[in-house]
This record gives sequence, structure tokens and C-alpha cells, in this order.
Amino acid sequence: MAQQNLSTPEELLHFQLRSARTMEDHSLEALADLRSAAKDKKIQKLFTHHADETREQIEKLRKVFELLDFKETTAPSPSTTGISKQAASLLERSDPKLHNQVALVSALGNEHFEISAYQGLVLQAQSLGAIEAAALLQENLDQETHTSEELHTALQELLA
Ligand SMILES: [Fe+2]
Repeated sequence: MAQQNLSTPEELLHFQLRSARTMEDHSLEALADLRSAAKDKKIQKLFTHHADETREQIEKLRKVFELLDFKETTAPSPSTTGISKQAASLLERSDPKLHNQVALVSALGNEHFEISAYQGLVLQAQSLGAIEAAALLQENLDQETHTSEELHTALQELLA
């Protein structure tokens, strides 16, 4: 059992930001794996583009640690560990001709988790009066939302 050691909203936000750093590292790994699984050039391009954005998101997270005067370390992100495991298992089980579909569906799940994580982070940073940090987190949230829309459209086109 985890030890109870988060007693203030600041400590809670710090811990969640540390998990978000791990979440983005997981995203970067997952995007590379899904990109190599996808056969379609357009889908591959989408993954490459979002991997570039993910690197920017990591830089923004690092800036948020700095703005809030939080030590930049990572904390576990069991949800994204699970999402990545599920994607790998689904790829293993499915015929290569289904891999474009699996890659899109799996990435969509990851994006939705990231959206919920940033929605919570933005509001918590705002409530602490950390306006500049909240704005950076909102930029990441907007990118994740845009990516989830692109993945959704690509999946619709693939299945049409
Ligand atoms: Fe991300």
C-alpha cells in the first residue's frame, strides 16, 4: 500500500505532474510502437507528428515544474503502463491486416486518458493561482484534444 504523504493541494498537484511526466514518456514510446505497427502512410504521419508534439509537451511540463518551483522528478503512471500493455497485447493477437485499426484505436484510448489528466491539472493549477503554469497545461490539453479528433477522423475514414 502506498504511504499517505500528500497533505496539501500543492503536494497533490506536484505528485500528479510527476505522473504526467511519466505519462508523456509512455506516450512517446507507445507512439513509436504504434507507428511501426501501422502500415498506412497517412496514419504513420499522424503518429510522427504527435510524437513531435509530445516532445514539446514534455518541455512545457518541465517549464511548469520550474514555474511552480517543484522539483522535477517522475512518479509512476500505472494507467498509461496499462494502456501500453493493452495495445501491445492487442497487436500481438491481431492479424497484421488489422494493425492500422488497432494502432488508431489504441492511440485514441491513450489520448483520452491524457485529456482527462490535463483537464484535472489545468483546474488544479488555476485554483492555486498558477496562471502561467495553467496556460501551458492548457496548451498541452488542446494538442491532446486535437490529436484525439484527428485519430477519430482517421479511424472513421479507415472503416468507411
Ligand atoms: Fe501527450
